[in-house]
Amino acid sequence: MSDAGIRPTTGDSSWFVHDRFGLFIHWGLYALAARHEWVKHREEIPDERYDAYFRRFDPDLYDPAAWADAAAAAGMKYFVITTKHHEGFCLWDSALTDYKAPNTPAGRDLLRPAVEAFRARGLRVGFYHSLIDWHHPQYVLDVIHGPYRNSPDRDAMNRGRDQQRYADYLHGQVRELLTGFGRIDALWLDFSYPRPDGTGKGRADWRSEELYRLVRELQPGVMLNDRLDLPDGWDFKTPEQVQPRGWLTVGGQRVVWEACQTFSGSWGYHRDEAEWKSVEQLVRMLIDTVSKGGNLLLNVGPTGRGEFDARALDRLAGMGGWMKRHSRSIYGCTQAPAEFVTPQDCRLTWNPDTRRLYVHVFAWPFKHLHLPGLAGRVEYAQLLNDASEIRMRGPEPWQMEKMGGSPDANLLTLTLPVAKPDVVVPVIELFVK
Ligand code: GLC
Repeated sequence: MSDAGIRPTTGDSSWFVHDRFGLFIHWGLYALAARHEWVKHREEIPDERYDAYFRRFDPDLYDPAAWADAAAAAGMKYFVITTKHHEGFCLWDSALTDYKAPNTPAGRDLLRPAVEAFRARGLRVGFYHSLIDWHHPQYVLDVIHGPYRNSPDRDAMNRGRDQQRYADYLHGQVRELLTGFGRIDALWLDFSYPRPDGTGKGRADWRSEELYRLVRELQPGVMLNDRLDLPDGWDFKTPEQVQPRGWLTVGGQRVVWEACQTFSGSWGYHRDEAEWKSVEQLVRMLIDTVSKGGNLLLNVGPTGRGEFDARALDRLAGMGGWMKRHSRSIYGCTQAPAEFVTPQDCRLTWNPDTRRLYVHVFAWPFKHLHLPGLAGRVEYAQLLNDASEIRMRGPEPWQMEKMGGSPDANLLTLTLPVAKPDVVVPVIELFVK
C-alpha cells in the first residue's frame, strides 16, 4: 500500500492499515450497573456502595469463543479489550492488586480466555488499559474524575496519597500485560487530561516517557495510541465518537488513525440506552472511515452475565452480512487518489495493489452514475455483491473532439439496474488500467 507522505509509525502498522476493522470491548463491574462505564463518576458512587458490583460480578454465561465468532463473522480482524477501565477493576489475575476478577464470584482470570479465543479465531490482540484509576489508594483524586470529585473531603482524602506510587503500580501492571499474554498487537492507554491550572493529569503523573520506553522494550512492534500526553510517543490518532471530515493530519502530515465508535453512545453495557445506530449507519461509517484512510474500532459492552446482548449481535450480524460480499472494498483499501472524483452520494475506496476502485453508492441513482476523468481508464466494472457486469461508456472520439477541453470529455458513464441491489450499501468494483 502506498504510504507516501504518511507519518511513519514505530509499531508495525502493516496489518493495521490493511485490516481496517476491529472490535472494541468494554467490560467491567460497570456492566452490572448497566448505565454507562462512567456511572461511578457520574453518580458519585462511593467505594463501599460500588463494591456491591464487585461482590456480585458473576459472568456465568461468559463464552469468549462466542464473542470471537461474532467478531470474526462481522468481518473484524482485531480486538481491543479493557484490561482495566477507570473504575480500577482488573479482568486478569494481576499480582499487584486484589481488585480483580479472580476475587469476585467469577473466581478466575477473564482476560486470558478472551486472548486465547480471539487469537485462535485469527484475530489480532489489543489491550485497552486505563491510566486513570478511581479505586487505587495512591491515585490523587481530582476535580474531573472519580466519585469524590465534588466531595468536601477530597483534599483530606488526598493527604498521604502519592501519585508516583500509583505510577509505579501503573507501570507494573503494563509490564504484566505486555509480558504475560504473548504478542500484543495494539495498546490503547486512556487518557491524559493535562490542564494549565495543574488540576488535570498528564505525562508527569504517569511518567509517560518512562512508560513509553517500557512499552517499546517489551513489545517493540505494538501499535500505540496517542493518549499518553507525549508529542511524539504514539503511532495512531484516536478520534472518538465522531466521523472526521477527511484523512487526519498532524503538522500538515497525514497520520495513521482509528476512529472508535459505539453502537448506542455508551462504551459499557447500557440496558436502557435507546439511540442504537442502524446496520446501514454502521456500514456507512465503516466505508466513510476507510474512504478517508482510517480504521474503525467498533465497541460492544458485554452484559454482567458475560454475553453480547441481542442488539449488539444483531448489528454485528448485519455488518457481517455486508462484509461477506464486500470486504475486499475494505481490507487493503484506503483513500482513493485525488484524481478520482467522488460521484454524488457515494464514497470511494481504493486498493493500490490490485488497482481496483470501489464506488460505494449511498443513494441509488436512476440508471446512470457518472465518473469524471475515468473514460478510457477502466477495463471492466461489476457489482461486487454478485459479480454482475456493469456496462459503461465514455464519449465517442468525435464527441470528445467536439467537447474539446470540457470536463465531460473524459466522463465515464455506468449504466446501473433500475432496482437497487438488495444489499445495505451497493458497491461497484472498477478494474482500473
Ligand atoms: C474515553 C472515555 C472512556 C472510553 C474511551 C474509549 O476516554 O473516558 O470511557 O473507554 O473514551 O475511547
